Amino acid sequence: MSKMERIEPLLTAAQIRNRVTELAAQITKDYQDKEILLLGTLKGAYVFIADLSREIDRPMEIDFLKVSSYGDSTSPISQVAFDQRPSTELSDKHVLLVEDIVDTGHTLAYLRRFLESQNPASLKVCALLDKPSRREAKLPESEYIGFQIPDKFVVGYGLDYGQRYRNMPYVGELIFEEVNKW
Ligand code: IMP
Ligand code: MG
Repeated sequence: MSKMERIEPLLTAAQIRNRVTELAAQITKDYQDKEILLLGTLKGAYVFIADLSREIDRPMEIDFLKVSSYGDSTSPISQVAFDQRPSTELSDKHVLLVEDIVDTGHTLAYLRRFLESQNPASLKVCALLDKPSRREAKLPESEYIGFQIPDKFVVGYGLDYGQRYRNMPYVGELIFEEVNKW
């Protein structure tokens, strides 16, 4: 027996494009008189932030941060730590955190705590994907959500499995199939 990976399409490139346009229009409106600090989480949000930033019609700075989570899937306690902190001073900035996906919520809970401690003028979260059924961390709703999806492991549009699939222009479910080899 060997394992084969197969992709079942979930969100098309056109669906994502339309939703990104809607989110950007809402953000442009909500930040009418403000300058934004768009803060992307590496690596997963790199595609989303590239598309979203080009559709938001406001002056902005763009920066990135990178975190890793440790701990095994059987434990409800997950440890999150910085690999790379933002290189920008966050105090008095209107920070909009751009996330690829909110799953258990531990990463976002950690990031919200850190970002609030930097005294931004405001803090909001824009997540492309949300898996509410997987939530473990206590956490406010993200202000902007692209799509709520069921409990499936998805790849593409920046999201990876073992660092692969990030460049797929759409989002699909990754399915593992047992294959009989003769
Ligand atoms: P958390 O469980 O909310 O802390 O999610 C942490 C990270 O897990 C996300 O930022 C993603 O990098 C990764 N992740 C969660 N669900 C998926 C998925 O379905 N596909 C790819 N990465 C995922
Ligand atoms: Mg990841």
